[in-house]
Amino acid sequence: MEHAVEQPGQLQARFVALREALSEEIVGQPALVDRLLVALLADGHLLVEGAPGLAKTSAIRALAARLDAEFARLQFTPDLLPADLTGTEIWRPQDGRFEFQAGPIFHPLLLADEINRAPAKVQSALLEAMGERQVTVGGRTYPLPDPFLVMATQNPIEQEGTFPLPEAQLDRFLMHVRVGYPDAGAEARILQLARERALAQLDAQPEAVERMPLAALFAARRAVLALHVAPPVERYLVELVLASRDAARYDTALAARIAWGASPRGSIALERCARAVAWLAGRDFVTPDDVRAVAPDVLRHRILPSYEATAEGWDGERLVQALLDRVPLP
Ligand SMILES: Nc1ncnc2c1ncn2[C@@H]1O[C@H](COP(=O)(O)OP(=O)(O)OP(=O)(O)O)[C@@H](O)[C@H]1O
Ligand SMILES: [Mg+2]
Repeated sequence: MEHAVEQPGQLQARFVALREALSEEIVGQPALVDRLLVALLADGHLLVEGAPGLAKTSAIRALAARLDAEFARLQFTPDLLPADLTGTEIWRPQDGRFEFQAGPIFHPLLLADEINRAPAKVQSALLEAMGERQVTVGGRTYPLPDPFLVMATQNPIEQEGTFPLPEAQLDRFLMHVRVGYPDAGAEARILQLARERALAQLDAQPEAVERMPLAALFAARRAVLALHVAPPVERYLVELVLASRDAARYDTALAARIAWGASPRGSIALERCARAVAWLAGRDFVTPDDVRAVAPDVLRHRILPSYEATAEGWDGERLVQALLDRVPLP
């Protein structure tokens, strides 16, 4: 068994090395790089949102290039059909039967690029598959591979030609990460990198990268699940989620600003992501700060502001911050 060979420290070193390699390619976006690894370790789908040209696609491609798993990219467009994603049954006259032709969703790593540029039907097909880990076509159900990770990108909703994702289905994303603009230093380094890449392309010298075997990923996931979460930390985590459903115990004005709070899927995600963060930091226990570190990315898309609060400029992000400010630390 391959996973028994690797010592815990070595396994963790692999992921730290992966993070460093990705940080060299995706400059000045440490949070994005970190979240890619957290999603991988916590076995969850990632939604990355940001303005055009902020390396969302590049970051996911860079990760895929370093994993020993098949990768597919699907560009979401207004004319995309659910079958373009899932696949279709094709009639084989010579055999007198239908044959299933699997679509791109049957890849272990799927980059769903610009997910909010496809109509609701396609989004639903994707999000259903993400939740159930299976696809039904023509009355037959096909299991999706393991690992199965969807890394989706989207531009901010305000952009033209976008279809907002169905709110209830956003819950299926483990994290919703927002990417901002890099600082001046990082911008200069991006220019340098772009020049180096353009030159390498002219010389036709593609960089050879080491791919992480899936056995290492599964062993790391096992280690993450084995970390210790002390009861007070678990209570804190649960309290954060419960407070999103009933904030009146802390602040009645805040409660009125929340239309709905996070589901149990949110608590599970919060726990798994906090574990992954602790493991990546080389610890064998989870702290309240690990929970706080991932709470915005885990909860922002699961907490919906009320109609009035939205009009006053509140969004999931601000609501999570307000909850973090109010729920007392253990
Ligand atoms: N932080 C960064 N580090 C390295 N390269 C970057 C960074 N930000 C942008 N780039 C470069 O900018 C270009 C655009 O990146 P990319 O296509 O990944 O953007 P995107 O966020 O997916 O944009 P869109 O929303 O338009 O699809 C790429 O060549 C990428 O390498
Ligand atoms: Mg892109």
